[in-house]
Amino acid sequence: MSVQPNVASLASTVVKSGATPALAAETVPLTAPQARRFEPLPMPDLTWTPEVERATAHLYEKVSRVIPSIEWPFFAPYIKAINEAKKLRDAVILGHNYMTPEIFHCVSDFVGDSLQLAKLAAKTEAKVIVQGGVHFMAETSKLLSPDKIVLMPDMKAGCSLASSITGADVRALREAYPGRPVVAYVNTSADVKAEVDICCTSSNAVAVVESLGVPEVIFVPDQYLARNVAAQTKVKIIAYKGACEVHERFTAEELRRYRETDPNLKIIAHPECPRDVVLEADFTGSTKGMIDWVKDNRPARVMLVTECSMADNVAVETPGVEFVRPCNLCPHMKRITLPKILDSLIHMRTEVTIDEALAVRARRSVERMVNLKH
Ligand code: 13P
Ligand code: SF4
Repeated sequence: MSVQPNVASLASTVVKSGATPALAAETVPLTAPQARRFEPLPMPDLTWTPEVERATAHLYEKVSRVIPSIEWPFFAPYIKAINEAKKLRDAVILGHNYMTPEIFHCVSDFVGDSLQLAKLAAKTEAKVIVQGGVHFMAETSKLLSPDKIVLMPDMKAGCSLASSITGADVRALREAYPGRPVVAYVNTSADVKAEVDICCTSSNAVAVVESLGVPEVIFVPDQYLARNVAAQTKVKIIAYKGACEVHERFTAEELRRYRETDPNLKIIAHPECPRDVVLEADFTGSTKGMIDWVKDNRPARVMLVTECSMADNVAVETPGVEFVRPCNLCPHMKRITLPKILDSLIHMRTEVTIDEALAVRARRSVERMVNLKH
């Protein structure tokens, strides 16, 4: 498999790593917002009191290995207020594995990788979903739960992969490679999902590609995930030029240096990393796959080659495992904070809406993935 140069030239909107992503929400006409009907909740008292300390003590016990006690008096009043506001709003918080530990362990109702969150969004009976993650995840939740109100605590929480490709780019690829089905990583806008045949996540990409039963597919937008999938299947992959700005920064050389200092160190990597990084790792998988691997194998020392908060979140549940941390932060995920989540619940903002005609087409490719038996 190779990234086709003529494909890259079609990618008029490809952004370089680190560039500010354009948000799909800005390009999609917004229809039928429902959150407007709700009055704001009264602003809770956010002072650190003995009552707040008592009410959140069980949560602090859980995260005390990764959150210094000096930080807790800032977090705790927000955590208490968010957990109360969720009940008043009949809301759930879906927390991606890259959320910081105070969000992941103390206010999220469901946590997981992109595929787990998509499935949970489809199943939950709550009226409101607050997305602890980035914009494409909130759009995916809205596609799968069209009758629910989906709130993004910060609409600027984008993704370098999602902003690297548009629906028009997919149409151009189809023209350049007629007859090949298009598989889109779920890290894309609804505009792109509407143009493709099926979505995939990092946990099911090989199964999705093979499910199509064809010798060649177009795979967008992550060139590294495409390479890593191509290495595991006979299906020929036509790749695009997108990249995750977090994972493409890791190098195989860096990993080798860590191994030299401790030959027993276990290294596990996300498949959004470059191919030589993945080849250097002992295991590669989605964020859920990585977490399961640490829980199942309990290595003495492990390095998670992915976003920084993952190690904190797993450390809470795996005492005895030492985490080596040459991690990279995702600036988009880190836009989601406790104050912004509370603001979302109080004001019911900012609601994610997708034009219905677009949603019908985009939903098809997400549902095709979710319904796949694998
Ligand atoms: P997964 O959680 O599906 O592995 O995705 C990682 C990621 O980068 C999400 O933005
Ligand atoms: Fe996008 Fe990478 Fe951040 Fe995930 S970690 S949201 S793929 S930029």
